[in-house]
Amino acid sequence: TFTIQADHLTAKIAPTMWGVFFEDINLGADGGIYAELVKNRSFEFAQPLMGWQKLGDNIPEGSLAILNRSQEKPNNPRFLQVDSNDPQNKIGLQNEGFRGMGIKRGLRYDFSVWYRQLKPGLRLHLELVDSAGNTIGEGFLEPEAIGNQWQRAQTSFHATQTCPKAKLNVWFEGQGKIDLDMLSLFPEDTWKRRPGGLRADMVQRLADMKPGFIRFPGGCIVEGRELASRFQWKKTVGPVEDRQLIINRWNTEFQHRPAPDYYQSFGLGFFEYFQLAEDIGAEPLPILNCGMACQFNSAEQAPLDELNTYVQDVLDLIEFANGDIHTQWGKLRAQMGHPAPFHLKMLGVGNENWGPQYIERLELFKKVIDAQHPDIKIVASSGTDPDGERFDFLNRKLRELQVGFIDEHYYRSPEWFLSHANRYDNYDRMGPKVFAGEYAGHPPQVTDGPLENNWGAAIAEAAFLTGLERNADVVQMASYAPLFAHIDGWQWAPDLIWVDNLRTYGTPSYYVQQLYATNKGTAVVPMLADGQAVSGQEGLYASSTIDQPNGELLIKVVNYNHKPVRGMFKLETGKKPTKEADQILLTATDLKAVNSFDDPEHIHPQTTKIAVKDKTIVADLQPYSFYLFKVKLK
Ligand code: AHR
Repeated sequence: TFTIQADHLTAKIAPTMWGVFFEDINLGADGGIYAELVKNRSFEFAQPLMGWQKLGDNIPEGSLAILNRSQEKPNNPRFLQVDSNDPQNKIGLQNEGFRGMGIKRGLRYDFSVWYRQLKPGLRLHLELVDSAGNTIGEGFLEPEAIGNQWQRAQTSFHATQTCPKAKLNVWFEGQGKIDLDMLSLFPEDTWKRRPGGLRADMVQRLADMKPGFIRFPGGCIVEGRELASRFQWKKTVGPVEDRQLIINRWNTEFQHRPAPDYYQSFGLGFFEYFQLAEDIGAEPLPILNCGMACQFNSAEQAPLDELNTYVQDVLDLIEFANGDIHTQWGKLRAQMGHPAPFHLKMLGVGNENWGPQYIERLELFKKVIDAQHPDIKIVASSGTDPDGERFDFLNRKLRELQVGFIDEHYYRSPEWFLSHANRYDNYDRMGPKVFAGEYAGHPPQVTDGPLENNWGAAIAEAAFLTGLERNADVVQMASYAPLFAHIDGWQWAPDLIWVDNLRTYGTPSYYVQQLYATNKGTAVVPMLADGQAVSGQEGLYASSTIDQPNGELLIKVVNYNHKPVRGMFKLETGKKPTKEADQILLTATDLKAVNSFDDPEHIHPQTTKIAVKDKTIVADLQPYSFYLFKVKLK
């Protein structure tokens, strides 16, 4: 029997409570949410023609050459020079896309290119081909301008077939000499139909979660394997052709998945991240480098007396997001199409950095940020080991420093999540708030493939989240990680949402997150059994909140038992509940059950009605199930 004191509002639930954490891992950005179809469009990968293949039976020496103009364009120096004298000889290049290109029948595709034409006469014949080599869309581009100036040209054409793994042929027809760069192909159906934008189906998955915040751009990519390859936001804004590509920190063998072609083009840069946050109604939460590279890799550190650049990056970012359009960085934001501020309220300094080295660096950042922007909350990292000495040290120091949020990460077994559902019940309320910034239940490995997002992991997360929700006065943000994974290009699993070139599906963990995020309520109300919070007693976990504007009571319960349990939910309230409540059930017959591309909704929320009689709900809770009851109170 559970008693819900529905009129006794305790902690307020922060509007930010449930959010998302985006990182360019598992082809999250390039090859994922960034809808560009051409890989290595500017020939800046370590091997300039990676992703490209020469086409033609007879390719004369020097007719397809990669040249470098590093003086003129240091951020994007390489380009392709095509020099063809024989109009009968067909030569070209084929781009393989990011594990192929997902092409949809009837959709328009927009091809663009930068060029300069010294000897006119060549035209570009664009041809999308399926796996058998059949043409499934074609277009032509005839460069008009002549001379030494770089120009942008574009053309569009429609696809005649759907193909998940198409390739793009670019044939050079005629004779002439032309320089080309930034060969690019986007579908028309990007999010909000923005040219050069994001994959709409992936953004929609995020929007459907109604996230309170979006943390970006990582994760380890913030740190870089070494400082030179850290994420530097200033290099990700302004014209895309000037954004300097770098190797992705996940271009590595991890979980036995080498990804030698994993680079960051920064087509999804900081402007686009802020815009995405705004689009989906989430508070932006950028994380910046603290002057330390990944301590699991080089552990390189910027000396304390050279931290200025790093601190200045933070100050300039605040100006970019919030500054007046007459400031240097506010002006750039306006030029990029957003004169209004992005209303940045918080930012992270460091990701999973540790030791006294982190603390002394953070101290420097904090001093400057507090002095110049006292309204900006600082999120600081407490590392990867939620129960260990490293965590204890950091937690103590971060409390002393009075940061705004401590960012805790837990990638742990489902059992850990179940046994830590009460982690914050007795947490010290006086210091910083908690940001559960990265978590995921990691079940044991059963196949050679990715660690599975099975129901066993998801239900353990659901149980753990009752504890976060119950302690919403101290836990004010939470996000699962990683967010996205491409089925043909992942490095880390489990992940919340899986994609291929044309499809997405939400894992059971996705539906858990979504149920919490879209039913968070505005205040916690006590839910007790035998006078105690319900956190694992007899395999049950529970929390309840009230949504004041909607007059709705939201009860969440996990039955982690192999047998059904009869639950009596007694509502202690002076208000009148409606006769029926919504009952939303997430369950599976097997803890190993998963969703997949073939069966994407094998596990998904099912809504029915349940009677409310004498201010009581009686529910037979199915084994291994997560319930949400929504009761209107008048
Ligand atoms: O989410 C994957 C990685 O896990 C993140 O990049 C890092 O912060 C953590 O170690």
